[in-house]
Amino acid sequence: MSEQKVYPVPANIAANAHVDAATYEAMYRRSVDDPEGFWGEYAEQFVSWFKPWDSVLNYSYQADDLHIEWFKGATLNVTYNCLDRHLETRGDQVAIIWEGDDPNEDRSITYRALHDEVCRLANALKARGVEKGDRVCIYLPMVPEAAVAMLACARIGAVHSIVFGGFSSDSLRDRVLDSECKVVITSDESVRGGRHIPLKRNADTALQECPNVDTVVVVSRTGGAVEWVEGRDIWYHEAIAAADATCEPVEMDAEDPLFILYTSGSTGKPKGVLHTTGGYLLYAAMTHKYTFDYQDGEVYWCTADVGWVTGHTYIVYGPLANGATSLMFEGIPNYPDMSRFWQVVDKHQVNIFYTAPTAIRSLMRAGEEPVKQTSRKSLRILGSVGEPINPEAWEWYYHVVGEERCPIVDTWWQTETGGHLITPLPGATALKPGSATRPFFGVVPALVDPADGTPIEGAGEGALVITRPWPGQMRTVYGDHQRFIDTYFKQYPGYYFSGDGARRDADGDYWITGRIDDVLNVSGHRLGTAEIESALVLHPHVAEAAVVGYPHDVKGQGIYAYVTPMAGVEPTDALKKELVSLVRGEIGPIAIVDLIQWSPSLPKTRSGKIMRRILRKIAANEIDSLGDTSTLADPTVVNELIDGRLNR
Ligand code: WT7
Repeated sequence: MSEQKVYPVPANIAANAHVDAATYEAMYRRSVDDPEGFWGEYAEQFVSWFKPWDSVLNYSYQADDLHIEWFKGATLNVTYNCLDRHLETRGDQVAIIWEGDDPNEDRSITYRALHDEVCRLANALKARGVEKGDRVCIYLPMVPEAAVAMLACARIGAVHSIVFGGFSSDSLRDRVLDSECKVVITSDESVRGGRHIPLKRNADTALQECPNVDTVVVVSRTGGAVEWVEGRDIWYHEAIAAADATCEPVEMDAEDPLFILYTSGSTGKPKGVLHTTGGYLLYAAMTHKYTFDYQDGEVYWCTADVGWVTGHTYIVYGPLANGATSLMFEGIPNYPDMSRFWQVVDKHQVNIFYTAPTAIRSLMRAGEEPVKQTSRKSLRILGSVGEPINPEAWEWYYHVVGEERCPIVDTWWQTETGGHLITPLPGATALKPGSATRPFFGVVPALVDPADGTPIEGAGEGALVITRPWPGQMRTVYGDHQRFIDTYFKQYPGYYFSGDGARRDADGDYWITGRIDDVLNVSGHRLGTAEIESALVLHPHVAEAAVVGYPHDVKGQGIYAYVTPMAGVEPTDALKKELVSLVRGEIGPIAIVDLIQWSPSLPKTRSGKIMRRILRKIAANEIDSLGDTSTLADPTVVNELIDGRLNR
């Protein structure tokens, strides 16, 4: 193997960082040797509690006794932590900078103004009968009202479930029904890249099949025309204008639910990942401060959407708990042109910038010129999230965007983990392009043999598991605790299984190799192959479908579908188009099938199981390493598929 490039910690960063290399070692050691002492101490430092805990941690990772409880007996309110406690010291500081899709539109919202609006919306929700424990669905674009809606729920103990604004009405309906939401908060339209998308219309369609939703709060984003259901629909601006600006925060148990967020798995429908209050908030605040080395007064920008966990933890909860200034961006990287990200960095003097590899790769294709038009001198720290970052993209980010001045934190984590699990810290960790490096405090990762679960010591590669809880860990799948146990704790007993594979090098640094289950990562968006297959077989001309990912230059992974048409059906390009739009309509625009190969039959074992390993190899055009095909019912199928492969 070629010699690995290592970028040492810049001295000026280390000198002023919250955590330098020696501090990391000492803190990490303590977090592992004395987890209760460690987390108890940081819980006092980062979170304001109404009542202290009886115990820091109770848990078992055994499938037959699974439970995870942090700070049992303690009470708190997340919005007290994100808003009220800052009012005296930083009430007039900007909490949220909003940058619109249109470069001429922006807003700044102070902590005081945010507190006021959150209290009003909380009262408006109460007036519509929302109580502690009720579920509220948020289907909004990237507008400040999305953060207000999240916090208004948390204020009164309602559980929010955000559905990404790019999801279809069918996806919205399924999620509203699964978590039994009684309120939906949406907007007339959303705006992205100058185009308007009719969110309210999607919501209306979805809600035709959701009889339990009695209130729809509508944010006026564009003034576009909307249908109105009298008695059900209320305007956001009218509701908050009429509401009182005083609303006491509800005292929540540390283990009361804070939010549900749906994510895709290997099988079945997306599952409602449930996060609770105390541990999640602590983990969000602490990772935000240490991973990004956030310093008081800095402007911090995470480009994710609040519809994903990254937006929850690193646009709203983490930054606001720390009293930060968090930038929220409604638009896209290439509108009005390819320099938009860097224009925004200069306009708002952004110090910390956190984005996804897919965005970096697409900007990289446009060359250096759009970057060089801008100054970017304010930038201090860069971050990456969502998928493995390839070394070429890492180097470009580092040299061209950051001008070799800004450490890149490549943060590995998941919807399930609530916050970063493996990541460099800017003042502590030497960087290797493509490596997420070291575990965060209290996180004890391990690698096991994917076949039999044997632990792998030292340098090696295997399935990535975590050996004990951290405060931000999900607690259950909403409405299906058994699924939580089966998905994460059965395959490798005694461990949390991430679904990812990883390599550990001789220095102990981790390199995430990607999903080893049937989950795809398309432009940093997570999709289950089973969901896409279910959509494809809805078409009357489709007998069977098998979906796999294949390497894609910009998206990371593309979607490759093997489709068997019904007997007598002519496989045409027109039918392919119908299938692409069927999947898009069922799931949303993030689910665009890139390649469809007509497959008169699929490679199956004698017991009828599709051998996806072979399909993945053919889709990746790695036909020389198909592996053993002798267990197939009909090995000749493979040659047919190879001949017809589309990604050559
Ligand atoms: C999956 C989780 C984490 C918030 C956004 C995505 C992949 C995420 C990295 C990274 C390599 C990464 C993993 C993980 N992933 N970050 N830095 N390096 N892979 O959350 O939708 O729950 O997806 O994204 O495969 O399992 P998510």
